[in-house]
Amino acid sequence: MGSQREFHLQQRKGRRVILFPLPLQGHINPMLQLASILYNKGFSISIIHTNFNSLNSSNYPHFSFHSIPDGLSQSEASFADIVSLLSLLNVKCAAPFQDCLAKLLSNIVEGESIACLITDAGWYFTQAVAQSLKIPRLVLRTNSVSFFLVFAAFPLLREKGYMPAEGCEPDAPVPELPPLRVKDIPVFETRIPETLHQVVLGMTNQTKVSSGCIWNSFQDLEQISLATLHKEFPIPMFPVGPLHKYFPASSSSLLSQDQSSIPWLDKQPPKSVIYVSFGSIAAINETELLEIAWGLANCRLPFLWVVRPGLVRGAEWIEPLPKGFLEMLDGRGHIVKWAPQQEVLAHPATGVFWTHNGWNSTLESICEAVPMICQPCFGDQMVNARYVSHVWKVGLHLERKLERGEIEKAIRTVMLEAEGQEMRERIVYLKEKVDLCLKQGGSSYQSLENLINYILSF
Ligand code: UDX
Repeated sequence: MGSQREFHLQQRKGRRVILFPLPLQGHINPMLQLASILYNKGFSISIIHTNFNSLNSSNYPHFSFHSIPDGLSQSEASFADIVSLLSLLNVKCAAPFQDCLAKLLSNIVEGESIACLITDAGWYFTQAVAQSLKIPRLVLRTNSVSFFLVFAAFPLLREKGYMPAEGCEPDAPVPELPPLRVKDIPVFETRIPETLHQVVLGMTNQTKVSSGCIWNSFQDLEQISLATLHKEFPIPMFPVGPLHKYFPASSSSLLSQDQSSIPWLDKQPPKSVIYVSFGSIAAINETELLEIAWGLANCRLPFLWVVRPGLVRGAEWIEPLPKGFLEMLDGRGHIVKWAPQQEVLAHPATGVFWTHNGWNSTLESICEAVPMICQPCFGDQMVNARYVSHVWKVGLHLERKLERGEIEKAIRTVMLEAEGQEMRERIVYLKEKVDLCLKQGGSSYQSLENLINYILSF
């Protein structure tokens, strides 16, 4: 890697890229992975980040980090209303970000030049700042292309009476957006619904006028969506993913990963373990926690379960579980606060991933050929779950009530029945496509080359 960078360094001649991740785990990981890729290709890297969910710079000694005050109060810095959080961040960070970027541009060292700014699509205010400071802005979109198409269609969905979808038949198809049904239309719980529409317009309009969009996805997975999107967004598109295949996410993890997961997995038979995690934001209630626990216990297969502090509303961690729950299982269950997820999915003992279908989790599961049980909670997860279960057909959508009997049935279907075996075969095929797209001549490999040349052309 080192010598590869030396080689590229000669070509890049002191070109610096400034990146600005959204301070959420699912957005930080792909942005830091992209930064590492660009560094490896010979670019110098600056990262601007908020105080909220501040990054651990010691894992990236070669990057320069610049922290900006976000001005969020303790109550504002909460995931309970993610739409309001996003909207607030875009207001409160505007001035500090502009100051920081202007300083970076004026303090540039001799022999160096700043090629461009890359921000998360969620930082929509940055387009105006970039234009005023005359620096090209590229957007990193950390969700799927298919979801972005739905997201961009929110004004249309609202006009047609789907948002909110009161009075619509939940199983009815949405003809404007196949393969979605009414119940797959993304839901974002927010105090002020109008804020959602401002955020949607901000993100879509400011992406449309950006210098280009980088996708954590790959051609073979989302070919049709990419082609459709390109008609609506005639800007350069770079599907370079899956980004974690270049660099793992562990170095940008905000929580420390419990390494006990791996020796525990080492003791389990091949493809026998149910891995359960709902990511960094989703929350459930105590009743749901108990149904999950009993569903897992009753199916009599080993499980590794991530219960993040904060996952269960109103509880610190797993206190609502019955006393002695794990002991009763005699080592068949292992609960951690945060796991080294990519290693867990790559482990030969992991048989199925019961996931909320955050986009990173979905891609990570595809890359390790682990079929999924889909339990989307909000937003893009609902679209991802629909694609996983009905387009790529590599997972089972847990659509009914979260109830122990239903859970047990779903786990058995994927782990033990022919339907599950077919999903496994299809996801192995998808994994092979991923491996090919990253090799020389593959679509993501070529997109990355195009991206580098594009950045060098600024
Ligand atoms: C958020 C949104 O909720 C999601 O819908 C969107 O697609 C991205 O932003 P999050 O819910 O955290 O993300 O889910 P996801 O996208 O799956 O990202 C979670 C990341 O944390 C993954 O890279 C995963 O490997 C990592 N992780 C998760 C761990 O390292 N350990 C864990 O125990 C769980």
